[in-house]
Amino acid sequence: MKPVTNKKPFKVGMIGAGFMAKLHSLSMNNIAGLTDDPEARFDLMRIVDVNEASAKKEAERWGWKEFGTDWKTVTRDESIEIVDIATPNDSHCEICLDAFANGKHVICEKPLSIDSKTAELMARKAVESGKIHMVNFTYRAWPAIAQAKKIIESGAIGQIRHFEGHFLQDHNNDPTIPLHWRFKKSSAGAGALGDVGSHIIDLSRFLVGEFDSVSATMQRFINERPLVEDRSRKGAVEVDDFTNSLIKFQNGATGTIKAGWALPGYKNDVFFAVIGEKGSIRFSWERSNELQYFDSSDPAYLSGYRSILLGRAHPGAELFWFPDLGGESSVGVTAQGMGYGEAFALTFSHFVDSLKSEKSASPNFIDGLRCCEIIDAIKTSAAEGTWQQVHLAEI
Ligand SMILES: NC(=O)c1ccc[n+]([C@@H]2O[C@H](COP(=O)([O-])OP(=O)(O)OC[C@H]3O[C@@H](n4cnc5c(N)ncnc54)[C@H](O)[C@@H]3O)[C@@H](O)[C@H]2O)c1
Repeated sequence: MKPVTNKKPFKVGMIGAGFMAKLHSLSMNNIAGLTDDPEARFDLMRIVDVNEASAKKEAERWGWKEFGTDWKTVTRDESIEIVDIATPNDSHCEICLDAFANGKHVICEKPLSIDSKTAELMARKAVESGKIHMVNFTYRAWPAIAQAKKIIESGAIGQIRHFEGHFLQDHNNDPTIPLHWRFKKSSAGAGALGDVGSHIIDLSRFLVGEFDSVSATMQRFINERPLVEDRSRKGAVEVDDFTNSLIKFQNGATGTIKAGWALPGYKNDVFFAVIGEKGSIRFSWERSNELQYFDSSDPAYLSGYRSILLGRAHPGAELFWFPDLGGESSVGVTAQGMGYGEAFALTFSHFVDSLKSEKSASPNFIDGLRCCEIIDAIKTSAAEGTWQQVHLAEI
């Protein structure tokens, strides 16, 4: 008999056993089976949540060895190397600072924090710690989006003229959804802008570049919601349901970014078009296995967007369900389809790459800080009705 593996897995502790715990646990459990890398594996040591029953449930179904209620039992446990944070936004800062002070690598959910002041402190401590730090802006790793970045970098669409982006959903148009943490300024920082807008802000920086200034409007459609603890009473919603921003990028391109979660008809649409001088690229998560590409140099009789279906030719997709058939084209099978779970698995595979190489992760805490700085500028612009310069702290 031979042992299956003698490789040492990365020992991880998770804080927050809500929605995200499912995707993170799924990814960490499956990573070994997706990559050919025998070192890409996690030991799920402990999961904690203020709600003990949630921690117990996630521990039981995903195979976490222990569960508890106190996050310090993760950040201060010497046997744990990595802290994975998936709690509401206002708790990220304190937990991250304690994790870095105790020598841990950290993967933290987005947005990094509720404002740029705390995010700046987190980014500073992350850099000073010398440890790996990553923010889970999940969509960067998506093969269609990683391919869009490659196309832009190849010069195929030329100089970027405009970015049109949105992340729009409609589920919060239901007024019976109670007043949970996402609807309060103190726990969320911002509403749709921070929750879904942070993703499209990150993608716009990833694909186009750094922001110069913003001009925005914010709207709230549902002003009161039933209290979580007593649904017969209502409390005030404090955040935006929809934020609409005009952008000037430092490189001269302009953009629009919309973030909304109560817009009927939009289910989960992470959308962007990057329009350059020679062509353009379009993507929508509602058709997430496609990338649209337009080349101005096509003859007129072929002129139009082409749909490129995801397959192993696209960055990251080779980890999934597209067998290599050994042909010279290396195309293999395409269009088997990938989804939300695979997006998280890809982020975790990038996290493993950084842990192994000790090279900075992408996106890291500085990217998380930049997003918070942009959110702050958008909020100020909407409150004051003026264009706002985005302040970029030096780290
Ligand atoms: N990357 C993505 O695409 C994505 C998607 C959804 C949510 N998120 C982010 O993930 C984070 C969590 O969101 P969610 O949807 O899982 O929320 P959730 O409400 O489903 O879960 C949060 C959990 O944290 C627990 N919690 C709260 N304070 C805690 C504390 N101090 N210590 C331990 N546990 C605590 C709660 O009891 C709850 O179980 C947020 O920052 C959110 O913005 C990211």
